[in-house]
Amino acid sequence: MIISAGTDYRAAAKRMLPPFLFHYIDGGAYAEHTLRRNVEDLAQIALKQRVLNDMSELSLQTKLFNESLAMPVALAPVGLTGMYARRGEVQAARAAAAKGIPFTLSTVSVCPIEEVAPAINRPMWFQLYVLKDRGFMRNALERAKAAGCTTLVFTVDMPTPGARYRDAHSGMSGPNAAMRRYMQAVLHPQWAWDVGLNGRPHDLGNISTYLGKPTGLEDYIGWLANNFDPSISWKDLEWIREFWDGPMVIKGILDADDARDAVRFGADGIVVSNHGGRQLDGVLSTARALPQIADAVKGDITILADSGIRNGLDVVRMIALGADSVLLGRAFVYALATAGQAGVENLLTLIEKEMRVAMTLTGAKTIADITRSSLVNNGLA
Ligand code: FNR
Repeated sequence: MIISAGTDYRAAAKRMLPPFLFHYIDGGAYAEHTLRRNVEDLAQIALKQRVLNDMSELSLQTKLFNESLAMPVALAPVGLTGMYARRGEVQAARAAAAKGIPFTLSTVSVCPIEEVAPAINRPMWFQLYVLKDRGFMRNALERAKAAGCTTLVFTVDMPTPGARYRDAHSGMSGPNAAMRRYMQAVLHPQWAWDVGLNGRPHDLGNISTYLGKPTGLEDYIGWLANNFDPSISWKDLEWIREFWDGPMVIKGILDADDARDAVRFGADGIVVSNHGGRQLDGVLSTARALPQIADAVKGDITILADSGIRNGLDVVRMIALGADSVLLGRAFVYALATAGQAGVENLLTLIEKEMRVAMTLTGAKTIADITRSSLVNNGLA
């Protein structure tokens, strides 16, 4: 039974998914210290209880990049979301739109931009990686613009992929073919067809569309693995600006100096993120990195934060630590894997309820009222 946003969908997803798919979403880099700290450090941020303030009227509404949001939450870009439900990106995007919040389509989605954008009645956000193939990047930006995407989330913390040992053990990556066998034998054949794993080539997301030929998952992963670009620098962002005139958000900032550089560059926003503990194990949790970054740039740039957010209390904590809004990663994919679009909608309903309780008991009537003073010792306890 699903009662808590934070734990029940993860447990349900673990029961339902083949192990390699559960570990792909659940795992992090190396020994997963940062992954664990993201969750634990956030849970330890002490909220300050306040009472007797007539909390009968609450508003969770907020504005980001001139867009109205029902609550300060968006769905993060998660690669291969379409493996967790049929046409999974469409289902997740519809859930986000139904709940009045943005959905971000990953570069490495199963469903292409042209399928997801028209399936929802609000503008989609698009996430772009820096890849050696600049032709792909340019093509993706043009397609995102043509499909009406508003905000570009430019992810800069993957100049090289982090080592994800769980994926190698599970058969998700590496020479072990467990994943392919499982997909062929167990999953719905149509699903295997969708992701090109039944031995027949098939269209797979934004990259197949660009490469101009149907590709299966293995081609896709191979192309990607050879395309991460360690030469990325601020010059590449200048280049992106030529092709994108909408809001641009830099995702993967964990240091106050980098945040100041993002302001100097003229970015519209940053995502304070360690990629959910999937890149460099050992870096700070976002709960610990965020206050210094907020001290450096709050008010100069929109601050989004992610990594470790599992429930509505965590959303309130991140906002109190200095975020204007948050992104949900694993939390929504566990729900999608459990119950598709309805699961993600229910997760968002639970998160909203949890936020309402947290706001009522910390005395915050609006999102703007959630500040460091909503925390014991300003969050430094
Ligand atoms: C991600 N993330 C990610 N980020 C991105 O910019 N592009 C991507 O394609 C992906 N893909 C991806 C796959 C999987 C399986 C996960 C779990 C994460 C990172 C994501 O956007 C976000 O930063 C983290 O998920 C946040 O951490 P939590 O909320 O999952 O702890």
